[in-house]
Amino acid sequence: MGTARKRGDSRRNEHGESVRILITRARIQKKIRELANEIRRDFQGEPLHLVGVLKGAVFFLSDLARQIPGEVSFDFIAVSSYGKETQSSGEVKLTRDLDASIEGKTVIVVEDILDTGLTLQYLLRVFEQRKPKRLRVAVLLDKEERRIAPVRADYVGFKIPNAFVVGFGLDYGERYRNLPYVGTLSLGSGKKEERAQE
Ligand code: IMP
Ligand code: MG
Repeated sequence: MGTARKRGDSRRNEHGESVRILITRARIQKKIRELANEIRRDFQGEPLHLVGVLKGAVFFLSDLARQIPGEVSFDFIAVSSYGKETQSSGEVKLTRDLDASIEGKTVIVVEDILDTGLTLQYLLRVFEQRKPKRLRVAVLLDKEERRIAPVRADYVGFKIPNAFVVGFGLDYGERYRNLPYVGTLSLGSGKKEERAQE
């Protein structure tokens, strides 16, 4: 603090990284209220079962669930994707399954971000086999440009450009999930920007 900063190098933290706000907390909260109302309008009088993908979706799910009027239950699933370096391998492993059956339920899968689509493609196949009454997808963020798998979300908070983002559940090396906004991450000079895309 108090030292002169070079242009473009403002507010680097102890990891040499900085976050620039892309979507403010207020915009996120307003959008979640809108999505919640839209979802309820689409399924009037029906119990809804939200399925959150850990860990990124926790804040989106918890805010969304509290904004949807009427009967709502929720559950969580966790996946890990193989091949962080070879990012398009598409291999996804289920590391924590749901507690309860989704058979006959109106299920809304809640994800933080739709990127290549490989994770959701895998999950939707798994869920379809379990015979829900309906299966829908809600994502806070959508990076359309990066899509590999032909997956689309029924409810999208914000379409964003192809940049690595953190906050509101999204992490970089498990950090930044707790930011109440979504921001773009820029890495320190020693690291390559591309590494954040791994
Ligand atoms: P997909 O399988 O490529 O669609 O990736 C989805 C998962 O990748 C998300 O659930 C996130 O965990 C992670 N991810 C994708 N893009 C970003 C990003 O910009 N920031 C943080 N995590 C991301
Ligand atoms: Mg993640």
